[in-house]
Amino acid sequence: MTVKEIFETMDYGPAPESAAEALAWLVDMGDRFGHFIDGAFTDPGETFEAKNPATGNVLASVTQATQKDVDAAVKAARKAQPAWAKDGHARARVLYAIARLLQKNSRLFAVLESLDNGKPIREARDIDVPLAIRHFYHHAGYAQLLDSERPGLVAQGVCGQIVPWNFPLLMLAWKIAPALAAGNTVVLKPAEYTSLTALLFADICRQAGVPKGVVNIVTGDGAVGEMIVNAEVDKIAFTGSTAVGRRIREATAGTGKALTLELGGKSPYIVFDDADLDSAVEGLVDAIWFNGGQVCCAGSRLLVQEGVAERFHEKLKARMDKLRVGDPLDKSIDVGAIVDPVQLQTITRMVEENTEGETYRAEVTMPAEGCFYPPTLVTGLSTASKLMQEEIFGPVLVSMTFRTPSEAVALANDTRYGLAASLWSENLNLALDVAPKVQAGVVWVNGTNMFDAAAPFGGMRESGFGREGGWEGLGAYLKPAGQGKRLKRVEPQTGEAVAADPLDRTAKLYIGGKQARPDGGYSMPVWGPKGTLLGQVPKGNRKDVRNAVEAMNGAAGWGRTSGHQRAQILYYLAENLSARAGEFAARVDAMTGKGGKAEVETSIRRLFTYAAWADKFDGEAKGVPLRGMALALKEPVGKIGALCPDESPLLGLVSLMAPAMAMGCRITLVASEPAPLAATDFYQILETSDVPGGVVNILTGSHEELAPVMADHLDLDAVWSFSGAELSKEIERRSAGNLKRTWVNNGLATDWERAEGRAFLEAATEIKTVWVPYGE
Ligand code: NAI
Repeated sequence: MTVKEIFETMDYGPAPESAAEALAWLVDMGDRFGHFIDGAFTDPGETFEAKNPATGNVLASVTQATQKDVDAAVKAARKAQPAWAKDGHARARVLYAIARLLQKNSRLFAVLESLDNGKPIREARDIDVPLAIRHFYHHAGYAQLLDSERPGLVAQGVCGQIVPWNFPLLMLAWKIAPALAAGNTVVLKPAEYTSLTALLFADICRQAGVPKGVVNIVTGDGAVGEMIVNAEVDKIAFTGSTAVGRRIREATAGTGKALTLELGGKSPYIVFDDADLDSAVEGLVDAIWFNGGQVCCAGSRLLVQEGVAERFHEKLKARMDKLRVGDPLDKSIDVGAIVDPVQLQTITRMVEENTEGETYRAEVTMPAEGCFYPPTLVTGLSTASKLMQEEIFGPVLVSMTFRTPSEAVALANDTRYGLAASLWSENLNLALDVAPKVQAGVVWVNGTNMFDAAAPFGGMRESGFGREGGWEGLGAYLKPAGQGKRLKRVEPQTGEAVAADPLDRTAKLYIGGKQARPDGGYSMPVWGPKGTLLGQVPKGNRKDVRNAVEAMNGAAGWGRTSGHQRAQILYYLAENLSARAGEFAARVDAMTGKGGKAEVETSIRRLFTYAAWADKFDGEAKGVPLRGMALALKEPVGKIGALCPDESPLLGLVSLMAPAMAMGCRITLVASEPAPLAATDFYQILETSDVPGGVVNILTGSHEELAPVMADHLDLDAVWSFSGAELSKEIERRSAGNLKRTWVNNGLATDWERAEGRAFLEAATEIKTVWVPYGE
């Protein structure tokens, strides 16, 4: 071929990376792997094959863990944890050593990852491995700074971590680095398709001076995952499918195990008519053909503005035809192999079963054999179509058009997921106007699939909860020191049915800013400690909860008010409560027999605390080593259902209501069951303090009956419970339906005198990380 011809075709030949060193490492390790437990590899047990999806060749045999193996790993982790948690600097040194060793072995990791997973070597080499290294460096720093920067917090303990097959090493890094930095020890299970880089990592741990038992790797399938979930661990961190995430939520309900779930997505990729279309096309290559579309936050749903749609689709198809699909070890390949024949079948079936719209397959040369799928674009789908709603997890892009920015937002949010979104526009006003309206944990402006150890990553809605990366992600591996006293149950008082006061003292519910009769028409008596009847309160039911949720929907504007405005209203609440302090103190005394004055005083202080926080609990701008900046913003979690503690009838209510209000949430509180009258008196304070109707709703009635209704409600974003232990399990189990956020006490006591601050504010907020172009 002449130089002229080369320039005309721009064709280039293969540039294969050698697999020799990676294969030699496998041979050195004996080609058969046991687990890595207590600092050493165990003998292989019953094994399964690790295959190269590009060729079908067997790479090694990996052991399917037994219950005994998992128990041994957890035991080793438990034993190692206290010593590991002691010295932040010692941990920093080890994390730094891991980072350095990963760097020194970076090509080995990249090649092994590409062989095992099928991803292009270019991606493994330039993205997965460098990001994993960056994660360990960055977290060495957290280990160093933790004691001074986060006093009062301690490690969770032993963490069970389950990772998927799409970014085997990177997801391991996202899990292990923060866990170790915070002083936890881990038992990690890689996905059954891709165990090899985790085992190579174990080998690195031996060299990095990781103390025995701090990192344990067990291999196997979902059954092993279940064993880890059910083991004596303190926290579970999971990345994978929403279906399995739900099961884990149910399995851990009521156990007190901390949980973070990073699940699926169907992330919108929005192209406005003023976007730089060529950049946006190039961005799509990184959005949906990066890792063959097997990316939880893949920009898999293209929304393009009508005026430019035709031109954009033409450009896109031309670009698709230029993608090179083939041998992942070829450095000039864009799209590698699909991880496993099972996944290939799923993708093929989903696309074949679709009967709507038009399907365009890139005109590319496909490898004769191996697990490959061509880059595909499906246009003309309706919003309800399965391909529009469900994760395909392959190189398949679906596309729709929109006319106006508000239609784009509506379409973007027409999904049960909320992981990520990309916005393309040359008009920064437009992009930054749309960014807060899109329900997604990560928003990229004129970019896509950017990640960094400093920038929190994670989902909203059914994409899961918890963040990975940054101080925010580290928080999931920490807990307040000194937790653990059991809650003493407050038994309902009883008495004689003789009214102390002949006047009718039947309170109502408080919904939508108005006092409302209960739907069911039943009331419950409230007794004082000496058996005196103090009054009656309504027995709220399912319909009342639904009405309260409707009222919260009507008050959506609260989330958009300024922190300054919310602060003013909280101060006003404090002022009005202060004006009637004597009356409230007497009411608390009448119900509980003591402490009314102090409780009212602390409630007023608490209102001041959250008035103070309302305009100060700000996000952070993260310096990321890319051209841009990641803004970790705090958004209100949304609509909260909260079961107030039985003890501290006024202070408990205020302690939950005020942080929620301060952060822009709407909240429906179920008052203390045995002592609800301070809550029903509180309506008057709310009414006189300019709280917009629907922002705070108060119900009375049986916690046991109302908690499941709230936990089941698909239109509630979070349920908090500081009520009895039994409810915690029920709430967490039922919350799996829409994966709403839960915050429950698991029967542990809360010191309401002191219970305020960051933990409450964090529960009321969700992090949205917005990546914006910035600087050179
Ligand atoms: P998966 O969710 O079944 O697997 C992820 C991990 O969970 C693996 O390590 C697996 O062994 C483990 N696991 C499976 N069942 C478990 C259980 N009951 N308890 C504990 N751990 C369990 O994902 P799978 O089946 O490999 O892929 C199916 C679909 O899931 C994909 O097509 C994709 O849509 C989605 N997915 C999403 C990922 C993400 O990053 N969000 C990653 C992987 C898959």
